Amino acid sequence: VPCRSLENERTLAIVKPDGVSGNYTTSIRNIILQSGFTIQAQLTLHLAQHTVTTFYAEHSTKAFFPSLVKYMTSGPVLIMVLEKVNAIADWRTLIGPTDARKAKITHPHSIRAMCGEDLQRNCVHGSDSLHSAAREISFFFPGRAGFNMDDPFNKVLW
Ligand code: TYD
Ligand code: MG
Repeated sequence: VPCRSLENERTLAIVKPDGVSGNYTTSIRNIILQSGFTIQAQLTLHLAQHTVTTFYAEHSTKAFFPSLVKYMTSGPVLIMVLEKVNAIADWRTLIGPTDARKAKITHPHSIRAMCGEDLQRNCVHGSDSLHSAAREISFFFPGRAGFNMDDPFNKVLW
């Protein structure tokens, strides 16, 4: 029977350049803590072009990619590992839909509605699956994902 795990899960959150420069990091951190997440690790970085290109590799062929890389390298970002039961789905729910302009109408209490602008400048990132979370956490924090993706004895089952 499929049943939601009662064990803690980790996800990767990023406050993107517009969120940091717009001084939203304190409000976002408060929402995170009030929602029952713990912040397991954090890092403020000005991302290099090649870092964004690797992180967002799945989007590298999209027309919006050059503009996405320019946006993500435009200023410092705050990268955090969040932990709680069901962290991945719950963080995605809190941030709201990708298009911040639509989020303002359909999900007005979401984080993207609060501090995002449009489909690209949407203020925050959240891993979209267990597999992405493991990859993205290890990308910025080697060893923090809870398991080693490259260990041949680990198999992602769902
Ligand atoms: P995506 O993974 O589809 O969205 P999400 O961040 O909600 O998981 O896209 C990654 C980022 O790429 C998104 O946060 C903003 C940017 N993006 C664009 O600039 N234009 C687009 O049309 C899309 C779909 C995304
Ligand atoms: Mg995504």
